Amino acid sequence: MEPTAAGTLVDRRSMVSLISRLRSSKGQANPYPIYAELRAMGDVVPAPWNGYLLLSHDLCDQVLRSRAWATFDAEWRARQGDASRWTAPAAIQLSKTLQGLNPPVHTRQRRSLGNVFDRNTLTNLQPFVERTVEKLLDRLSEHMRSAGEADFATLVGEELPVATISHWLNLPPADHALLRDLTHGQAYAQELLPSASQLAQANTAAQGLRDYFTALVAERRRSLGDDPLSRWIRTWDELEPDREEADETLYHLVMFIVIASLETTSTLLSNMVRLLDQHPRQRAWLLDHPEATPNAVEEVLRYDPPIHLTTRVATEDTVLSGVHIARDEVVHVMIAAANHDPAQFADPDTFDIGRTASHLGFGGGIHYCLGAALARVEAIALLQGLNRRFPTLRVTTPPLWEPRMAFRRLTALYVAER
Ligand code: HEM
Repeated sequence: MEPTAAGTLVDRRSMVSLISRLRSSKGQANPYPIYAELRAMGDVVPAPWNGYLLLSHDLCDQVLRSRAWATFDAEWRARQGDASRWTAPAAIQLSKTLQGLNPPVHTRQRRSLGNVFDRNTLTNLQPFVERTVEKLLDRLSEHMRSAGEADFATLVGEELPVATISHWLNLPPADHALLRDLTHGQAYAQELLPSASQLAQANTAAQGLRDYFTALVAERRRSLGDDPLSRWIRTWDELEPDREEADETLYHLVMFIVIASLETTSTLLSNMVRLLDQHPRQRAWLLDHPEATPNAVEEVLRYDPPIHLTTRVATEDTVLSGVHIARDEVVHVMIAAANHDPAQFADPDTFDIGRTASHLGFGGGIHYCLGAALARVEAIALLQGLNRRFPTLRVTTPPLWEPRMAFRRLTALYVAER
């Protein structure tokens, strides 16, 4: 039995059923009642497999921002012995990306990228994003006309992020499908408890990503241009005298930016359609007030963020909300639960596009999402396009979800004009 922050005793094994419910299709469709049950046990609750779940906004924010907590980097993973969850090739690959690095290596790599999505870059990308939105909505319209309904998640949600990031990095459209597939596979390595077959898929994807992005760096090196990757290559040639080392870093950097940008943004785009469909009065108001679109996007990110949790480890023995946590122990920062914390948000389970309070959907601290501004540009352009062109759009069948807890993914979201 383990004490929780609320002082109750919780048997780690009894948590297994709660976690299983989170992975069930009902839990996927609406995990929030389960998060509320967890929060009722305390702000810090033992996870079934060691470590703890953090449920309150305050604690999640504090851990994300504090230097006393680190991401589980390669050294931490090596200390865990050879448990396949931590030492699988896909997990090792992630530990060498920005998200898996700690200062000073993280600081050096993140700085080397520069201010990637500054105002100028976003202004230059805007016309491409708007043109792509129009093309994708033409396609959606054709499918709805010919079949009566169309899968928004596949036809639009999955397409806009890959088209945008590929345009920015100068990657050929012929590679879009491969990049999407590899990203879907790699995402399993970021799950709490991946099954053996999910881990195997993640490992295969990790190899595919390595092959693709090492070849990309080598090819770009041969014909440097004015694109971001060419600029990073020039930067790393100055920072790192060992060419092999520089290319290894460049492959991890560019690969992670691509995979971090795809599934997350796709889920946000489909979630916008789903949540506004469930709140027709707010959608009707938004049709008359397009200037409120950025606010609506923020509320979607708060209400159901694409990433529901991330993980940190203690760099020293510590106490969180009265619970002793030993060095190297894991805490899961439950972003989505924090976004529904009644201590932070009034009436947190109400979807309300009029809110202004900030959320943890893009994380916090030194690992704060690098692409938040780009994700917002895509989401706003798409929502404005959808509302202008399809004011009577409705979701026709309940969406289908991939059975995951960390990285949410809608695999189908059928819509029609009614
Ligand atoms: C709605 C879309 C997105 C969401 C919800 C999202 C969410 C997040 C979150 C929560 C983190 C922090 C993870 C942690 O602390 O462990 C993160 C980090 C990151 N995101 Fe995003 N992201 C989105 C889109 C993007 C896009 C479009 C890009 C790139 C173009 C991107 C690139 C990154 C990178 C590189 C990091 C790691 C930063 C670091 O560790 O220093 N993300 N994102």
